[in-house]
Amino acid sequence: MQENTLYFERVNHWALQMIDFVKQINSEMDEERITVLERLNKLEKLTNDTTYPNMRLIQEMEEEMKKIQRNVELLCCGKQKPFRSRIPIGEHSLPSLPYDYNALEPYISTEIMKLHHTKHHQSYVDGLNNAEIKLKEAREIGDFTLIKHWERELAFHGSGHYLHCIFWEVMSPKGSKIPKGSLLKQIEMDFSSFTAFKKHFTEAANQVEGVGWALLVWSPRSHRLEILQSEKHQLFTQWDTIPLLVLDVWEHAYYLQYKNNRKDYVNKWWNVVNWKNVEDRFNKAVNIKWKSF
Ligand SMILES: [Fe+2]
Repeated sequence: MQENTLYFERVNHWALQMIDFVKQINSEMDEERITVLERLNKLEKLTNDTTYPNMRLIQEMEEEMKKIQRNVELLCCGKQKPFRSRIPIGEHSLPSLPYDYNALEPYISTEIMKLHHTKHHQSYVDGLNNAEIKLKEAREIGDFTLIKHWERELAFHGSGHYLHCIFWEVMSPKGSKIPKGSLLKQIEMDFSSFTAFKKHFTEAANQVEGVGWALLVWSPRSHRLEILQSEKHQLFTQWDTIPLLVLDVWEHAYYLQYKNNRKDYVNKWWNVVNWKNVEDRFNKAVNIKWKSF
Protein backbone atom coordinates (compact mmCIF):
# COMPACT_ATOMS: atom_id res chain seq x y z
CA MET A 1 0.00 0.00 0.00
CA GLN A 2 2.81 2.32 1.02
CA GLU A 3 4.61 1.51 -2.23
CA ASN A 4 1.53 2.26 -4.30
CA THR A 5 1.10 5.61 -2.62
CA LEU A 6 4.70 6.43 -3.39
CA TYR A 7 4.16 5.42 -7.00
CA PHE A 8 1.17 7.77 -7.25
CA GLU A 9 3.28 10.62 -5.93
CA ARG A 10 5.97 9.94 -8.52
CA VAL A 11 3.46 9.84 -11.38
CA ASN A 12 1.96 13.08 -10.10
CA HIS A 13 5.39 14.69 -10.16
CA TRP A 14 6.02 13.34 -13.69
CA ALA A 15 2.66 14.70 -14.91
CA LEU A 16 3.40 18.16 -13.50
CA GLN A 17 6.83 18.24 -15.14
CA MET A 18 5.39 17.07 -18.45
CA ILE A 19 2.68 19.76 -18.33
CA ASP A 20 5.39 22.42 -18.05
CA PHE A 21 7.41 20.79 -20.81
CA VAL A 22 4.48 20.45 -23.26
CA LYS A 23 3.53 24.09 -22.72
CA GLN A 24 6.99 25.08 -23.89
CA ILE A 25 7.15 22.92 -27.02
CA ASN A 26 7.36 25.02 -30.16
CA SER A 27 4.83 23.18 -32.34
CA GLU A 28 2.12 24.16 -34.79
CA MET A 29 -0.03 21.26 -33.69
CA ASP A 30 -2.16 23.21 -31.25
CA GLU A 31 -5.05 20.77 -31.20
CA GLU A 32 -2.73 17.89 -30.36
CA ARG A 33 -1.00 19.94 -27.68
CA ILE A 34 -4.37 20.67 -26.04
CA THR A 35 -5.31 16.98 -26.14
CA VAL A 36 -2.01 15.95 -24.52
CA LEU A 37 -2.39 18.64 -21.86
CA GLU A 38 -5.93 17.48 -21.08
CA ARG A 39 -4.69 13.92 -20.62
CA LEU A 40 -1.81 15.07 -18.43
CA ASN A 41 -4.11 17.19 -16.30
CA LYS A 42 -6.43 14.23 -15.85
CA LEU A 43 -3.51 12.05 -14.79
CA GLU A 44 -2.29 14.75 -12.43
CA LYS A 45 -5.71 15.04 -10.78
CA LEU A 46 -6.05 11.28 -10.50
CA THR A 47 -2.71 10.91 -8.76
CA ASN A 48 -3.41 13.77 -6.41
CA ASP A 49 -5.74 11.50 -4.47
CA THR A 50 -3.63 8.70 -3.01
CA THR A 51 -6.41 7.30 -0.83
CA TYR A 52 -7.22 4.27 -2.96
CA PRO A 53 -4.22 3.34 -5.10
CA ASN A 54 -4.61 -0.16 -6.50
CA MET A 55 -2.76 -2.37 -8.98
CA ARG A 56 -5.35 -2.14 -11.73
CA LEU A 57 -5.27 1.62 -11.69
CA ILE A 58 -1.49 1.58 -11.71
CA GLN A 59 -1.43 -0.65 -14.81
CA GLU A 60 -3.86 1.67 -16.57
CA MET A 61 -1.72 4.63 -15.65
CA GLU A 62 1.39 2.91 -17.04
CA GLU A 63 -0.36 2.47 -20.38
CA GLU A 64 -1.61 6.04 -20.37
CA MET A 65 1.87 7.38 -19.59
CA LYS A 66 3.34 5.43 -22.52
CA LYS A 67 0.70 6.87 -24.86
CA ILE A 68 1.28 10.39 -23.62
CA GLN A 69 5.03 9.94 -24.03
CA ARG A 70 4.56 8.88 -27.66
CA ASN A 71 2.31 11.83 -28.40
CA VAL A 72 4.77 14.22 -26.81
CA GLU A 73 7.55 12.76 -28.97
CA LEU A 74 5.44 13.38 -32.06
CA LEU A 75 4.74 16.93 -30.92
CA CYS A 76 8.46 17.50 -30.49
CA CYS A 77 9.54 16.01 -33.81
CA GLY A 78 6.86 18.07 -35.54
CA LYS A 79 7.69 16.71 -39.02
CA GLN A 80 4.63 14.55 -39.21
CA LYS A 81 1.15 15.73 -38.53
CA PRO A 82 -0.15 12.62 -36.81
CA PHE A 83 -3.51 14.01 -35.86
CA ARG A 84 -4.10 16.53 -38.60
CA SER A 85 -7.59 17.74 -37.97
CA ARG A 86 -10.70 17.30 -40.09
CA ILE A 87 -10.17 16.73 -43.81
CA PRO A 88 -12.48 19.09 -45.71
CA ILE A 89 -14.80 17.51 -48.27
CA GLY A 90 -12.91 16.57 -51.43
CA GLU A 91 -9.47 17.30 -49.98
CA HIS A 92 -7.98 13.91 -49.28
CA SER A 93 -4.36 13.59 -50.38
CA LEU A 94 -1.93 10.83 -51.20
CA PRO A 95 0.32 10.17 -48.18
CA SER A 96 4.01 9.85 -48.93
CA LEU A 97 5.44 6.42 -48.21
CA PRO A 98 7.30 6.10 -44.92
CA TYR A 99 10.25 4.59 -46.87
CA ASP A 100 11.74 4.63 -50.39
CA TYR A 101 10.13 2.77 -53.29
CA ASN A 102 13.00 0.27 -53.33
CA ALA A 103 13.02 -0.25 -49.55
CA LEU A 104 11.00 -3.45 -49.56
CA GLU A 105 13.20 -5.21 -52.16
CA PRO A 106 13.58 -8.10 -52.77
CA TYR A 107 10.19 -8.94 -51.27
CA ILE A 108 8.26 -6.25 -53.16
CA SER A 109 9.86 -4.72 -56.23
CA THR A 110 10.45 -1.01 -56.80
CA GLU A 111 8.29 -1.12 -59.91
CA ILE A 112 5.29 -2.53 -58.03
CA MET A 113 5.65 -0.05 -55.19
CA LYS A 114 5.84 2.94 -57.54
CA LEU A 115 2.89 1.85 -59.62
CA HIS A 116 0.83 0.79 -56.61
CA HIS A 117 1.40 4.04 -54.76
CA THR A 118 1.45 6.69 -57.50
CA LYS A 119 -1.20 5.23 -59.79
CA HIS A 120 -3.53 2.92 -57.86
CA HIS A 121 -3.61 4.66 -54.52
CA GLN A 122 -3.74 8.08 -56.21
CA SER A 123 -6.79 6.99 -58.20
CA TYR A 124 -8.59 6.02 -54.96
CA VAL A 125 -7.79 9.45 -53.53
CA ASP A 126 -9.12 11.18 -56.66
CA GLY A 127 -12.23 8.97 -56.77
CA LEU A 128 -12.98 9.57 -53.09
CA ASN A 129 -12.63 13.34 -53.45
CA ASN A 130 -14.89 13.29 -56.49
CA ALA A 131 -17.57 11.19 -54.77
CA GLU A 132 -17.55 13.45 -51.71
CA ILE A 133 -17.95 16.56 -53.87
CA LYS A 134 -20.78 15.01 -55.89
CA LEU A 135 -22.62 14.02 -52.73
CA LYS A 136 -22.14 17.51 -51.32
CA GLU A 137 -23.65 18.94 -54.51
CA ALA A 138 -26.55 16.49 -54.23
CA ARG A 139 -27.25 17.68 -50.68
CA GLU A 140 -27.08 21.32 -51.73
CA ILE A 141 -29.54 20.97 -54.60
CA GLY A 142 -31.61 18.28 -52.92
CA ASP A 143 -31.30 15.90 -55.88
CA PHE A 144 -30.53 12.33 -54.82
CA THR A 145 -31.32 10.48 -58.04
CA LEU A 146 -27.73 9.26 -58.38
CA ILE A 147 -27.23 8.51 -54.70
CA LYS A 148 -26.71 4.76 -55.21
CA HIS A 149 -23.93 5.40 -57.69
CA TRP A 150 -22.12 7.98 -55.57
CA GLU A 151 -22.49 5.98 -52.34
CA ARG A 152 -20.84 3.04 -54.15
CA GLU A 153 -18.05 5.30 -55.35
CA LEU A 154 -17.65 6.72 -51.84
CA ALA A 155 -17.34 3.20 -50.41
CA PHE A 156 -15.06 1.86 -53.15
CA HIS A 157 -12.60 4.74 -53.24
CA GLY A 158 -12.88 5.46 -49.51
CA SER A 159 -12.03 1.88 -48.57
CA GLY A 160 -9.26 1.90 -51.18
CA HIS A 161 -7.73 5.08 -49.79
CA TYR A 162 -8.03 4.24 -46.09
CA LEU A 163 -6.85 0.63 -46.43
CA HIS A 164 -3.81 1.65 -48.48
CA CYS A 165 -2.95 4.29 -45.84
CA ILE A 166 -2.84 1.42 -43.33
CA PHE A 167 -1.09 -0.96 -45.75
CA TRP A 168 1.95 1.30 -46.31
CA GLU A 169 2.33 1.88 -42.58
CA VAL A 170 2.11 -1.78 -41.55
CA MET A 171 5.12 -2.62 -43.74
CA SER A 172 8.74 -1.66 -43.13
CA PRO A 173 12.18 -2.55 -44.50
CA LYS A 174 13.02 -3.25 -40.86
CA GLY A 175 10.06 -5.58 -40.39
CA SER A 176 10.15 -7.94 -37.44
CA LYS A 177 9.13 -11.57 -37.53
CA ILE A 178 6.81 -11.46 -34.54
CA PRO A 179 4.91 -8.78 -32.59
CA LYS A 180 5.71 -7.97 -28.98
CA GLY A 181 3.97 -6.83 -25.85
CA SER A 182 0.24 -6.36 -25.54
CA LEU A 183 -0.50 -7.27 -29.18
CA LEU A 184 1.32 -10.58 -28.92
CA LYS A 185 -0.52 -11.37 -25.68
CA GLN A 186 -3.87 -10.61 -27.30
CA ILE A 187 -3.03 -12.71 -30.39
CA GLU A 188 -2.11 -15.63 -28.17
CA MET A 189 -5.31 -15.20 -26.18
CA ASP A 190 -7.57 -15.00 -29.24
CA PHE A 191 -5.88 -17.44 -31.64
CA SER A 192 -4.09 -19.70 -29.11
CA SER A 193 -0.65 -18.98 -30.60
CA PHE A 194 1.12 -16.67 -33.02
CA THR A 195 1.76 -19.64 -35.33
CA ALA A 196 -1.97 -20.45 -35.44
CA PHE A 197 -2.80 -16.79 -36.10
CA LYS A 198 -0.24 -16.56 -38.91
CA LYS A 199 -1.55 -19.70 -40.59
CA HIS A 200 -5.16 -18.48 -40.35
CA PHE A 201 -4.28 -15.02 -41.72
CA THR A 202 -2.17 -16.52 -44.53
CA GLU A 203 -5.00 -18.85 -45.57
CA ALA A 204 -7.53 -16.01 -45.40
CA ALA A 205 -5.31 -13.97 -47.73
CA ASN A 206 -4.65 -16.89 -50.11
CA GLN A 207 -8.32 -17.66 -50.39
CA VAL A 208 -9.80 -14.20 -50.91
CA GLU A 209 -11.93 -14.77 -53.96
CA GLY A 210 -10.79 -12.49 -56.76
CA VAL A 211 -9.69 -9.11 -55.48
CA GLY A 212 -9.64 -7.87 -51.92
CA TRP A 213 -7.87 -7.87 -48.60
CA ALA A 214 -7.11 -9.97 -45.56
CA LEU A 215 -7.50 -7.97 -42.37
CA LEU A 216 -6.68 -8.37 -38.72
CA VAL A 217 -9.28 -6.27 -36.89
CA TRP A 218 -10.12 -5.31 -33.33
CA SER A 219 -13.75 -5.68 -32.33
CA PRO A 220 -14.68 -3.18 -29.61
CA ARG A 221 -17.91 -5.19 -29.21
CA SER A 222 -16.43 -8.61 -28.47
CA HIS A 223 -13.10 -7.30 -27.16
CA ARG A 224 -11.29 -9.72 -29.42
CA LEU A 225 -9.06 -9.70 -32.44
CA GLU A 226 -10.58 -11.22 -35.56
CA ILE A 227 -9.40 -12.09 -39.06
CA LEU A 228 -11.64 -11.06 -41.94
CA GLN A 229 -11.61 -11.28 -45.71
CA SER A 230 -12.89 -8.36 -47.73
CA GLU A 231 -13.55 -9.83 -51.16
CA LYS A 232 -14.47 -6.56 -52.77
CA HIS A 233 -13.85 -3.59 -50.57
CA GLN A 234 -16.51 -1.54 -52.34
CA LEU A 235 -19.29 -3.79 -51.04
CA PHE A 236 -20.40 -1.44 -49.44
CA THR A 237 -18.50 -0.10 -46.56
CA GLN A 238 -15.71 2.33 -45.96
CA TRP A 239 -13.24 0.25 -44.00
CA ASP A 240 -11.57 2.16 -41.19
CA THR A 241 -14.76 3.99 -40.23
CA ILE A 242 -16.93 3.48 -37.12
CA PRO A 243 -20.73 3.15 -37.40
CA LEU A 244 -22.60 5.67 -35.25
CA LEU A 245 -26.24 5.65 -36.37
CA VAL A 246 -27.62 2.64 -38.24
CA LEU A 247 -31.06 1.95 -39.69
CA ASP A 248 -32.17 -1.59 -40.51
CA VAL A 249 -34.09 -1.58 -43.81
CA TRP A 250 -34.26 -5.34 -44.24
CA GLU A 251 -37.89 -6.27 -44.78
CA HIS A 252 -38.08 -8.14 -41.46
CA ALA A 253 -37.61 -4.78 -39.75
CA TYR A 254 -40.83 -3.22 -41.09
CA TYR A 255 -42.83 -5.49 -43.40
CA LEU A 256 -45.37 -6.77 -40.85
CA GLN A 257 -46.46 -3.22 -40.10
CA TYR A 258 -45.59 -1.18 -43.18
CA LYS A 259 -45.77 -3.87 -45.90
CA ASN A 260 -43.74 -2.63 -48.87
CA ASN A 261 -43.89 1.01 -47.82
CA ARG A 262 -40.30 1.44 -46.74
CA LYS A 263 -40.48 5.22 -47.16
CA ASP A 264 -43.20 5.45 -44.51
CA TYR A 265 -41.17 3.26 -42.13
CA VAL A 266 -38.02 5.36 -42.63
CA ASN A 267 -39.94 8.60 -42.06
CA LYS A 268 -41.56 7.32 -38.86
CA TRP A 269 -38.28 5.83 -37.62
CA TRP A 270 -36.87 9.31 -37.04
CA ASN A 271 -39.29 9.63 -34.08
CA VAL A 272 -37.50 6.94 -32.10
CA VAL A 273 -33.83 7.73 -32.62
CA ASN A 274 -31.91 7.75 -29.35
CA TRP A 275 -29.55 10.63 -30.10
CA LYS A 276 -28.04 10.44 -26.64
CA ASN A 277 -26.76 6.98 -27.45
CA VAL A 278 -25.47 8.08 -30.85
CA GLU A 279 -23.70 10.96 -29.15
CA ASP A 280 -22.09 8.58 -26.66
CA ARG A 281 -20.81 6.42 -29.51
CA PHE A 282 -19.57 9.55 -31.28
CA ASN A 283 -17.73 10.82 -28.21
CA LYS A 284 -15.93 7.51 -27.85
CA ALA A 285 -15.20 7.22 -31.58
CA VAL A 286 -13.61 10.68 -31.90
CA ASN A 287 -10.95 9.66 -29.42
CA ILE A 288 -9.47 7.37 -32.06
CA LYS A 289 -7.29 9.54 -34.21
CA TRP A 290 -5.22 8.14 -37.04
CA LYS A 291 -2.93 10.21 -39.21
CA SER A 292 -5.21 11.94 -41.67
CA PHE A 293 -4.76 12.10 -45.45
FE1 LIG B 1 -3.65 -1.97 -53.66
